[in-house]
Amino acid sequence: MGKNKGEFGSRFGFIMAAIGSAVGLGNIWRFSYVAYENGGGAFLIPYFVALLVIGIPLLILEIGFGLRQRGSAALSYARLNRKWEWLGWWAPIVSFVLMTYYTVIIGWTLNYVVYSFGQSWGSDPDAFFYGKHLGLTSGIWDIGNIQLGVLIAVFLVWAINFIIIYKGVQSGVEKASKIFMPLLFVLMALVTLRGITLPGAMIGVNKFLTPDFSKLADARVWLAAFGQIFFSLSLGFGVMITYASYLPKKSDVVNNAFITGLGNSAFSFMVGLGVFGVLGYMAHSTGLPIENVVTQSIGLAFVAFPQAINLMPGFNTLFSLIFFGALAIAGLSSSISLVEAVVSNMMDKFNMERNKAVFVVCGIGFLGSLIFTTGAGLYFLDLIDHFNMQFGAALVGILECAAIAWVFKASKLRQWMNPISDFGVGRWWDSIVRYVIPFLLGYSVLSSAITELAEPYGGYPLSAQIMGWLIAVMLILIGKAIGSMNWSDQQLLCQEVE
Ligand code: PHE
Repeated sequence: MGKNKGEFGSRFGFIMAAIGSAVGLGNIWRFSYVAYENGGGAFLIPYFVALLVIGIPLLILEIGFGLRQRGSAALSYARLNRKWEWLGWWAPIVSFVLMTYYTVIIGWTLNYVVYSFGQSWGSDPDAFFYGKHLGLTSGIWDIGNIQLGVLIAVFLVWAINFIIIYKGVQSGVEKASKIFMPLLFVLMALVTLRGITLPGAMIGVNKFLTPDFSKLADARVWLAAFGQIFFSLSLGFGVMITYASYLPKKSDVVNNAFITGLGNSAFSFMVGLGVFGVLGYMAHSTGLPIENVVTQSIGLAFVAFPQAINLMPGFNTLFSLIFFGALAIAGLSSSISLVEAVVSNMMDKFNMERNKAVFVVCGIGFLGSLIFTTGAGLYFLDLIDHFNMQFGAALVGILECAAIAWVFKASKLRQWMNPISDFGVGRWWDSIVRYVIPFLLGYSVLSSAITELAEPYGGYPLSAQIMGWLIAVMLILIGKAIGSMNWSDQQLLCQEVE
């Protein structure tokens, strides 16, 4: 174990933290929109296949590896073989970049908690969001001004992360998750109940659940399902490895992975019902077809919901507070997992005290967030998110299978974790992590690369595209560079892992 890294006090605490990382902004608006766009009810088929074939087996792999190696991602891979250490840096670096804008979206949800009082977005939430709230400029190189309200909210988000991570694993991450997650569940259950009982809700729910089987033949729908599962379960970011390294030595792996994976999807499904209920209500009260009220992901939370709230027959402010409050909580519990993964790496490699590592990570993170608080922030967010996520996490997933399932050997990990788990996995798991997942992820990376080359993303100018590619390549190089640096505590590397 590294310096003062701490340990989870209970299994419940670990599960709450793992689900806390998984359940985030992605479950609330991303899932609903992706499901809608990819065939409604039919999407649920590839989604559950992806959960069972990629999601849960990889969760088992990451949790098993972290528990066995007992270190941050960097230390876990370095203990396997110094040649693989860079992978343990690449993943948290992708996390770090994600963190810089993920915290900005959480900041917006805090702004919207405040706007909820008296519905400050007025009668045109669309113009309000892009205009007054974001101060959106004409293009990516027209930076505009820092939006003060957003800046304050983002600072607050970083401050909350700082305080929680500073307090350590047990009294920080674990305690916060044990409060956040049950509270989030209650709040979202209320949103869902309200959503599905509004007049016209069934129009939306039907849209969500009615399968369009023709979509199953479309490879893009399957890729969307893989992507959603990957992001939603925080896979390929070093987060689950880090959290698992804080479990007591002989802890369950397999069942914890199943509980986390199934819990996360059940939550998404419940929220999907509520979100579509609200959209159905909008269609009903405006007389527009539902296709016209469903907007793009960010628009769903910050434009469509405020529009729906304007139309609601009562308790508008309360509903709004609950919805945006829940979004903020969901986001915060995910962002602390991202910060912790990076902090944990720094503590191990550079032999840093927790307080120093937290200060450095949160400080640099906050500075990195600044660009997203400007008038061009949304453009940067969109572009950097695309380059960071499109290839980053999936490539890490493939390499992770190479390192753990091939070099370390899946059978060895399985035989080690089965006896300490509530129930074990069979040989089928070895084949999945050795062959099936690398193949499926390889296919998705390849097809995204082909699409990307055929048609550069989002119509941004060439200079912006180049910046995106440079950032993506730089992240790997930084990972490589840090991975090849010497350890301040060489001893740590050789410590017996059993
Ligand atoms: N799983 C989180 C969500 O769905 C996002 C996340 C990704 C968090 C990776 C941590 C690591 O919003």
